Amino acid sequence: MEREEKLQGLAAPLLAWYEANKRDLPWRENNDPYRVWVSEIMLQQTRVEAAREHYIRFLQALPAVEALAACPEEKLLKLWEGLGYYSRAKNMQKAAKEIVARGGFPQTAAELASLPGVGEYTAGAIASIAFGQPSPAVDGNVVRVLARLLGDAEAQDVLRKRYFAELAPAYPQGRCSDFTQGLMELGALVCTPASPRCLLCPLQDMCATKSDALPAKREKPARRETEMTVFLFTDGRGIWLRRREGGVLSGMTEFFNIEGALPLPEAENYLRGAGLTEFTLRRAGTHRHVFTHLVWQMTAYAAETGQALSSLPAFSSLRYYTKEEAKERVSLPSAFRWCMDRL
Ligand code: ADE
Repeated sequence: MEREEKLQGLAAPLLAWYEANKRDLPWRENNDPYRVWVSEIMLQQTRVEAAREHYIRFLQALPAVEALAACPEEKLLKLWEGLGYYSRAKNMQKAAKEIVARGGFPQTAAELASLPGVGEYTAGAIASIAFGQPSPAVDGNVVRVLARLLGDAEAQDVLRKRYFAELAPAYPQGRCSDFTQGLMELGALVCTPASPRCLLCPLQDMCATKSDALPAKREKPARRETEMTVFLFTDGRGIWLRRREGGVLSGMTEFFNIEGALPLPEAENYLRGAGLTEFTLRRAGTHRHVFTHLVWQMTAYAAETGQALSSLPAFSSLRYYTKEEAKERVSLPSAFRWCMDRL
């Protein structure tokens, strides 16, 4: 079968399979563009099972785009806690304000892609799923399905571009929403990265690969490693936290930290040098946190002190919270959340 013929022949078996096998997911209740949009942003870096509960909670708190536009940032970040990559939430709110200002969602992929945080993939997903347009949404799942089906061995970013162009004419009229979701679902349930279930695949007769041989493996990103010493200041009742300025997680809340992995005696010296006189210090464990382009190797010490920290210049950016306040109101990025159990 020729390439084009395969792409044209994709819709019929895929849609029949999707109808019979689609999962019951909370964002599939209806095609409201707001609901579709929120789900696609969450699913960019988070697995379906992990996103599910967050999604339900988020939609209960912010059921429509107007509510998201008007949400205080602190509450928004708290709702996003556990999903990571907080810039996604901040961009969503910027976009929500634009959508409210223009009186509703734009309906084409090109216009959608001009919103903050909405790339070609998300724009295609909203345009096809919510507005029934023949606009491809090529994510990692879809690249995998098509690379195997067509036997394409090129690099994934090359294929992604090509599939955006090639897939548009294969969209079946009136079924664009299910076509997009069917491709994603097949990638998630059958055409999985390892051990694909080829015998259950509706496309097995036309598949060039029938195995996990494609797509070509990506090279692992080079990650810079940095060491960090984290001080968990506490007076026994409450803790001190500060806002992170600059770099990764800028604007988020963090425990006080400095560069380098200090052994206990040096950590003590550091605190004395900063003017802290009465404290006890104990080891609170280590943690390795992996970001996309960066790894933090973290060494933590619990520092108990009754001194008023914010009166010392080195610690003036710290704010005091009771542990309950911190748990309820502060969204601590996952890079620092483990520290809460080490106090
Ligand atoms: N991954 C990305 N978008 C998805 C969706 N709408 N359903 C299931 N998995 C997805």
